[in-house]
Amino acid sequence: MKTIIYPGSFDPITCGHFDLIQRAAKMTDSLIVAVLHNSNKKSYFSMQERVEMIKKCTENIPNVTVDSSEGLLVDYINRKGGKVILRGLRAVSDFEYELQYAMLNQRLDKSIEAIYLMTSSEYSFLSSSMVREIGSLGGDISGMVPDAICSYVKERLMQENNKDK
Ligand code: PNS
Repeated sequence: MKTIIYPGSFDPITCGHFDLIQRAAKMTDSLIVAVLHNSNKKSYFSMQERVEMIKKCTENIPNVTVDSSEGLLVDYINRKGGKVILRGLRAVSDFEYELQYAMLNQRLDKSIEAIYLMTSSEYSFLSSSMVREIGSLGGDISGMVPDAICSYVKERLMQENNKDK
């Protein structure tokens, strides 16, 4: 199968994202996880930190590469030569946004297709923003972000919280 590109803001990568990456990596020869900017969200971790965290989580999956881009997803995809985007769906509430996102990307480039995987039920309640909120208030985020980055994320979130005081 062609290269699949999994775009997202991954701020930070959660166990839900990681589960999707592991499952998608079995479906293709090459999966690119692409960290992009979502202009509707204020990012917490820098682009470089987000890329490094995903690299750490995926270092044992040989057909997964991690990358980042500042511009439009369609331009990135064309530069990479892939044509298939992967997105996860946690619940019906995700569908409306994903439909608009897919339609707009198709409007920008007709040749790009999107495929979807349902988030595994044990992670369907998870989001990066919830992880940030819980972690910054000192709550336990283990099992919400991959073990490989859990202590780093905890520390960073607590640091930021202490700065605000
Ligand atoms: O994890 P997210 O926040 O749902 O990911 C959304 C993301 C970053 C993939 C999306 O905002 C995106 O593609 N940003 C790049 C800029 C772009 O192409 N925007 C137009 C989308 S139609």
